[in-house]
Formats: sequence, structure tokens, C-alpha cells
Amino acid sequence: MSDAVTLQGVSKVFGDVYAVRDLDLAIGDGEFFSLLGPSGCGKTTTLRMIAGFEFPTQGSLRLHGVEMALQPPNQRPVNTVFQSYALFPHMTVEENVGFGLRMKKVAGAEIVERVRRALDMVQLTHRATASSKQLSGGQQQRVALARALVNEPEVLLLDEPLGALDLKLRQAMQTELKDLQERVGITFIYVTHDQEEALTMSDRIGVMNEGRLLQVGTPQDIYEQPTSRFVAGFIGEINLLPATIVDHESVRLAGGRLVAATTGAAAGSEVTVAVRPERLSLFGLGETVPARLNAVRGRIVRRVYFGDVFYYDVDTPDGVIEVKEENRPGVALHEIGEEAVVAWDPAATTVVES
Ligand SMILES: Nc1ncnc2c1ncn2[C@@H]1O[C@H](COP(=O)(O)OP(=O)(O)O)[C@@H](O)[C@H]1O
Ligand SMILES: [Mg+2]
Repeated sequence: MSDAVTLQGVSKVFGDVYAVRDLDLAIGDGEFFSLLGPSGCGKTTTLRMIAGFEFPTQGSLRLHGVEMALQPPNQRPVNTVFQSYALFPHMTVEENVGFGLRMKKVAGAEIVERVRRALDMVQLTHRATASSKQLSGGQQQRVALARALVNEPEVLLLDEPLGALDLKLRQAMQTELKDLQERVGITFIYVTHDQEEALTMSDRIGVMNEGRLLQVGTPQDIYEQPTSRFVAGFIGEINLLPATIVDHESVRLAGGRLVAATTGAAAGSEVTVAVRPERLSLFGLGETVPARLNAVRGRIVRRVYFGDVFYYDVDTPDGVIEVKEENRPGVALHEIGEEAVVAWDPAATTVVES
């Protein structure tokens, strides 16, 4: 698989702000790649550099192997869909989609054909002659997509395109976007601060914070094997417990010694143990905890019912640990005030730097 986009040592400085710092990234042809991170971490700046709206202060940016860092936007085989997708209200759907081609003086017959194809891709053919004012929010966003797709870009850049939609519609559009991307096979680079959006749609995710790309991987890699405290904490719910390395296969917590792969940090180093609430189980004091499990003893201080699951907060010598237990037959219900053991498979323990 050739790379659609390659960034090497890319930085962007505004005054004394490093918006993006020393970014290395290769995005494959046909990949659905998401840049995920909190507001202000440099996602939009990265996207704007790929689009050509900003030039890197430093570094190389190639599209299908061709250096593009200093090329203007119209010289690049990319298009962008923004969150605010102002359509022309006095135009029909097909006029909106064909507008850019008319400006470029593309031949009339070709415009008709390309608009038809773009509307077909977003499944809006039946609304071609509707006034754009008459469309729902989701349909308007699909017109905005068609307006980008009509240019037949090799790479489509999407900057929080669903941010303005309400939850239900956003979830429906997530599925639609993913289907569309698979159908047309174009490389998508999708910017979002929404972890669920990134997890459900992406082939791979790059997590950014403070201008840096911290980790790149599949949704499973990022969720199951976070390599830093920031990535562990940003995606999903997680317990972060302070620990000290004992040797290459164990750490010490206030509540006892745990089995955990420690990837080479020196004995005595301060680290953080990360474990997801859904990987934990609660055992009553009368129950036998299998010896192969990591175990920490504590007292239940809170229980919240979510229908399909219960959340327990367990106060332990290592702090409050959150446990998520499924509400199904065979899983015992525990009471507030009860002493219990929080236990989990050592394989679910990730050790990250402090
Ligand atoms: N044109 C600009 N001039 C000055 N600072 C900017 C400009 N664009 C972005 N920044 C700064 O760069 C940082 C990253 O911004 P941005 O890329 O928009 O982040 P995100 O899209 O992740 O929210 C922020 O600190 C922001 O204030
Ligand atoms: Mg942004």
C-alpha cells in the first residue's frame, strides 16, 4: 500500500506558539485516519497544512510521494469539509454541488455528470432539485460532502464535520460516512475531539496533545495498549494507579504487589498502572479469588445503576477504583459499605510512564 500523505518533521509555529511540533506520520492510500485530541492540540493546523491553507514552519509534506509543503491549495489533490458548511441558500442542491466546477469553467456536460455521481455517492439524487433551504441538517452536511467529492480528490480532509449535529444524527452520519469511505475508497483524514467517533469509524487513529502526536494505532491498539498516561486517560474510562517497578514482571502498589509487564523501566521507577473498569471484577470477602488474578482489597463507597451495567467505586489504599460490572444473571450484586476484592487478569494491566 503506497502512502497517500507523508509528514516528516513537520512543525508549525504561530508567534511563540508551537501549534504542531515535529510531526512524523504516514497515512496509507484508502485509509480512514482520524486525528484525535482535545481542543487546541493542533489537529486543525495539521489538516490545514495538508490542505495548503497553512505552510509548515519546518518539515516535509508529501502527497502520493510528491513534495507539497509549499504548494497552494489548488495545486493539491485534496478537498476539505468543515464543520460550518455554509451552503448557498438561494441555490438548489445540484447548483450548490456544481458551483466550484462552474467557477473553474469545467464543460457543462462534464459538470452534469460529476454532480450526478457526487450526489449518488451521498445518496441525495432524489433531492437534486430541492432548494438547499429545505434540507435537514444531515442532508445539508451530505451536500457539503458532495461539494468536496465532486472535485474527485485523492484525499478528503474532514474537520469535525459532525460537530454541529445532535447526538442521534451524529451517530447515524458516522455510519454513513464510514460506508461512504469504504464505497468510494478515497483516503479520509478526519479530525475530531470525540473519542467515540474516532474509535467507531477509523482504520487508525493518531492521538495528539499540545502539538505532539503521542500515539498512532488501530482503535484497539489505542484503547487496549495506551503508551502514555495522556492517551490512557483521554480515551474511555480508566483507573490510573501510582506504582513502583519491582522487576520486569511486577509492580508495587500501596495495596500490594501486582503482576504487570513493565517494559524495561528500572526497578524503583515511579510509573502508573492503567486498567479499564470493565476489566475489573468484584469478589466478596468470602469468595475465593483465583490466584492468577491481580487483587486489591477495599470498601465499596458508591454504586450507580445504568441499566445494563453497575458502576462501583471501591475505596482502596491506592485510591478509589472504579469497577464496571455487567447486570446479568450470575454476576453478584454488592452493597455500599461492603468490603470486597477488586480483581483482574494481569494481561489487562498496562504500565505507562508516570
Ligand atoms: N492562525 C493562528 N494564529 C495564532 N495561533 C494559532 C492560529 N491557528 C491556531 N493557533 C494556535 O495553535 C494551537 C493549535 O490550534 P488548532 O490547530 O486550531 O487546534 P485544534 O484544532 O486541535 O483545536 C492553539 O494554541 C491555537 O490557539
Ligand atoms: Mg480544530
